[in-house]
Amino acid sequence: MLESPLIVVNCKTYVESIGEKALELTKIIEKESDANWAVCPQPCDIRMLSENTKVPLLAQHIDPVEPGSNTGRLLLETMKSAGAQGTLINHSERRLKFSAVDRIVARCKENELKTIICANNPDVSASAAALGPDFVAYEPPELIGGDISVSDAKPELVEKAVEKVKKVDPDVGVLCGAGVKNGEDVKSALDLGTEGVLLASGLVKAENKKEVIKDLESLIR
Ligand code: G3P
Repeated sequence: MLESPLIVVNCKTYVESIGEKALELTKIIEKESDANWAVCPQPCDIRMLSENTKVPLLAQHIDPVEPGSNTGRLLLETMKSAGAQGTLINHSERRLKFSAVDRIVARCKENELKTIICANNPDVSASAAALGPDFVAYEPPELIGGDISVSDAKPELVEKAVEKVKKVDPDVGVLCGAGVKNGEDVKSALDLGTEGVLLASGLVKAENKKEVIKDLESLIR
C-alpha cells in the first residue's frame, strides 16, 4: 500500500471524477497501470470504489474530530469503514491549523491509516515532516490546475523540499504536485529526488484517460 514511486490522483470536486465517473477512472487505472497508484475520491464515493476496485483509496480530507457530537464533519472512522486506506491532510484547497494537522496524523497512526500532508513551500514541508507522516506532498498553490509542472517551474524548490524533509526525517517520502500531466513531468519529479507525484486536472479532465495513465507512468524505471 502506497509503495514508491507513487502516483496519486486527486479527484477533487471535478464533475469528470465524481460518482460513476470516479469508478470508471479508477477501473481504468486498475486495468491499465503497471505502477503504484492511489486515488482520492469524494467522500461519498469511497465505499463504491472500494467495493468495486482494488486501487488504494485515500480520503481528500479528514476533520480533527472524535466520534460523537459533531455535525457535518468528516470522521476518520467513517472514511476507514468506507474503505479509505489513508488520507490527504492540509491540501492547499483545504488548509488546516498546524495543531489540527498534528491531531489528524496522530489519529491516523492510532487507526493504521496512511498520511500525506500537503505543504505549500519547502519550510512548511519540513514542519510537516516533523509530524512523521508517510509522505509530504509539496505543491506550490499558484501552479495548481495549470499547465506548467512544478518540476519545470520550480525544480530548485522541489529539491529544497526533498532536502529539508529528509533532514528532518529520512523515512518520510516526498511527493510533488501541481501541473503534472505527462510522463516527462513524473520523470523530472523523480529525478529531483521525490518518491512520486500528486496530480488532478491533467488526468481527470483528459479525454483519453487510458493514454494519459500509460504516458504518466511510462518513464518510471
Ligand atoms: O492534489 C493535486 C493537486 O492540487 C494538483 O492539481 O490539477 O495541478 O494536477 P493539478
